[in-house]
Amino acid sequence: MAKLISDNLSVGENGRLYFRGHDTLALAEKYSTPLYLMDEQRIRENMAMYVKAFRESFGPDSLPIYAGKANSFKRIYQIAKEEGMGIDAVSAGELYTAMKAGFPLERAFFQGNNKTDWDIAFAMDLGVGYFVVDNREELDAIARIAAERGLRQKLLLRLTPGIDPHTYDAVATGKVDSKFGTAIETGQARQMLEHTLSLPSIDLRGFHCHVGSQVFGEDVFERSADIMLEFIARCGRDYGLSPEFLDLGGGYGVRYVEEDGHVDIPAAIAAVAEHMKKVCARLGIRLPKIIMEPGRSIVADAGLTLYTVGTVKKIPGYKNYVSVDGGMSDNPRYALYRSKYTVLLASRPEAEARLFCDVVGRCCESDDVIQPDVLLPEPERGEILAVCTTGAYNYSMASNYNRLARPAMVMLTEASDYLAVRRETLDDLVRNDI
Ligand code: LLP
Repeated sequence: MAKLISDNLSVGENGRLYFRGHDTLALAEKYSTPLYLMDEQRIRENMAMYVKAFRESFGPDSLPIYAGKANSFKRIYQIAKEEGMGIDAVSAGELYTAMKAGFPLERAFFQGNNKTDWDIAFAMDLGVGYFVVDNREELDAIARIAAERGLRQKLLLRLTPGIDPHTYDAVATGKVDSKFGTAIETGQARQMLEHTLSLPSIDLRGFHCHVGSQVFGEDVFERSADIMLEFIARCGRDYGLSPEFLDLGGGYGVRYVEEDGHVDIPAAIAAVAEHMKKVCARLGIRLPKIIMEPGRSIVADAGLTLYTVGTVKKIPGYKNYVSVDGGMSDNPRYALYRSKYTVLLASRPEAEARLFCDVVGRCCESDDVIQPDVLLPEPERGEILAVCTTGAYNYSMASNYNRLARPAMVMLTEASDYLAVRRETLDDLVRNDI
């Protein structure tokens, strides 16, 4: 039996893989491969789930914001706007994309550990609502640039709570030695806070933390909330401060393969809220307006990538390779993190799986692997292969390595399919060459 890892996948009567009710082979034929498919309905369901859970657990002033680093293109910001989310943006490029999509930037939070003066000025001129300030030098730059413009810039301070979220190292960001944020434990957070309060062009609205991504640990958000709320309580005692916002970052994990766990996100949010209300009561502070920044859990299971099989290489006594017409250029996650994926032969997902192989890309690098050790029905050149759960950190991390053109992205609703990002052309590849 094919492992249909999410419920927007099915097998049609013709024996082919369907995604959100669409025949994947027909889509591959219509748009060519490699191809990113995005299930718009699933994106909306995931966003609506957060908005509802937040309203129920944290009240009407709380705000889930979509972390665009997971997948940033114009259409998704329109959907975020329609679904009532804010956004987290980490670069001028993400902000510009959101602006071009008509997203109301007063609901944008500008993040990142090293915003240049140019980035800061650009974001202010776009009218970005909030900056999330990583460190003291950046704070001074923001204060200076805001003063030049006669503004009082709203912002949150990103603090490092000193939590290990037990995920892979590349995405664990809450530990004291992280490149992100200003540590509470070392006393630097407190010094930065005092300095912030002395800056007339700065309007401090709250605090932020983000401890990691692809997090399954049950109490990670509770533990970081404890540390942040303690810090807030001390701010109240020492400076009479009662911050409006507390942003707990993103990070809920998703299921890539059958062995992965499953996070019941509304239940997890309800548990965090209940815990925080108790802690606030004990500390004698009011609960700030809560923000979270989900990226992966909004878009991952909305994505599916289609490839065409090329070479099927068998090295007797050694190994089998199935090569596809994309690779680390459209999905670098195995090369970077040894990430797991579920791979299906879209033309015959339920045929008997007899070929044990590595599914590899076409880039000039041995580590250009989509997924090793996969059991598939033996594919022939020209058949379509599907890699599931590719909606997060695939397109946004894609490159033109080997001058491969990036794939198109097609959105699916129950009734229609439409292009959201067109396929790059060879001319796109030389556009900036002089
Ligand atoms: N907020 C901040 C400050 C973040 O740094 C991140 C992710 C998020 C929110 C969203 O986290 P999510 O809900 O998506 O877990 N490229 C890696 C993931 C990097 C995550 C970076 N920060 C991967 O492909 O696994």
